[in-house]
Parts: sequence; C-alpha cells; structure tokens
Amino acid sequence: MTLRLQKYLAQCGLCSRRRAEELIAAGRVMVDGRVVTAMGTQIDPGLHQVSCDGQPVLPGEQTVTYLLNKPAGYVTTLADPQGRPTVVSLLKEVLTRVFPVGRLDLDTEGALLLTNDGELAQKIQHPSHGVKKTYEALVAGRPSPGTIAQLERGVPLEGKMTAPASLQPLAQRGEETLIRITIHEGRKRQIKMMFRLVGHPVRHLRRTAYGRLTLGDLAIGRFRELNPSDLKKIFL
Ligand code: URA
Repeated sequence: MTLRLQKYLAQCGLCSRRRAEELIAAGRVMVDGRVVTAMGTQIDPGLHQVSCDGQPVLPGEQTVTYLLNKPAGYVTTLADPQGRPTVVSLLKEVLTRVFPVGRLDLDTEGALLLTNDGELAQKIQHPSHGVKKTYEALVAGRPSPGTIAQLERGVPLEGKMTAPASLQPLAQRGEETLIRITIHEGRKRQIKMMFRLVGHPVRHLRRTAYGRLTLGDLAIGRFRELNPSDLKKIFL
C-alpha cells in the first residue's frame, strides 16, 4: 500500500501534515537514503525506509494527546535558538515524542494540546473543522457595547475580515476589563491584534478551552493525558 510521504510522516506521529510538508521542502527528509523534496511522493512503508534529520521514522506508536496548562515564559516551538524553555520540557515524564498543536505566544498562558498524532493535529487546526478556541483576555480600558459588537461581527486583520466571534465581558478591574472571547479560526496573534485594532490592547491572555474541553482544575504548568471522550469534546 502506498501513501503520500507527508501523510506517512504525520501518521507516524512526527508532526502535523502541514509541518511535514515544510520538512520535506527543506530537504530534511530522506527515502532510502536519498533526499526527497517533491511534494506528494508516494512511499510504501513496507518497502521504503524513511528518515528525518537522519533519524528513522517508523509507524506503530500509540497515539497520545495531552492537555497542558501552559505557563507564561515558555515557547511552543520544539527548540528555541534563544535558549528559552519549551513547553515540551514540561512533559518530562512523557517518553513519547509529542509536539504542540498550533501555538501560543511566549506570554500567553493556558490550554495547549500536545500530541504525536499528526492527523488529529491537522484536523484541529484545519479551518474546515472550525474548532472553537476560548480565551480570557484582560484588556486596557472599557470596550463599549459597540466595540464588542464590532469584534463579534469581524474586523479587518491583514486585509482579511476575522470570522464571527462571540464575546462576553466578565469583570471590570479598575481601568481594565476581563473579556471572554471565542473564535473559530487561529490566525497568528489573532486575539491581541483584534483588541489592539479597536484600541484596547491585551494586558494578559489565557486560553481556557478548545471546544468544550476546558482546563478544569489543571494547575499552571501541569498536564493530563486525554481519553477518547475528552478528544470528542474538542470538536463540540
Ligand atoms: N491570540 C494571540 O494573540 N495570542 C495567542 O497566544 C493566542 C491567540
């Protein structure tokens, strides 16, 4: 049975399919000892030996997914040229190699999924599934009902309107307002850019849920393995 090289890399749990395409394009993937950069190359796992950065990539691992309550000060990349701590370093006891699903800024806290299941990561991030992500943002000032409605309808970010969002002011703290916001897309720094655009920069940001999967009582810096019913909640 043959399958596309990027799908094979994702199924083995190396990374998401999108990331696999980047690795292939960067010349980091070899098939039978030869660098392959052609996208869509078909391989037969029974016949071909695939490696990435010189390490064999093999199927057959169990897929695992964890929910981490990310602290501020940790990067969501797998390595950091500036030597800052990575979120993966918080999963010390986890022997399986997992990677973060999407990203959170260095100073953002809260829910972050890590998995070795490239197909699941792809599904969570693909806009067609519209997975809901909920954040609590502490923003400067007191956004008016008109501003809240404007953010809900959509605002232009980098030439493209944001998809409809839902917002709920939760509390007033002096000259700052705590707002719950749920979005269905995941553009880079989307929440901070949306609030900055309407004149209420974000002072603190925390992601509280993916779909109906919430952090619950998971303390900052702690993680837990997800079971099939948790995984279903991501898509609700
Ligand atoms: N939006 C942001 O602006 N930052 C994050 O970390 C996540 C969503």
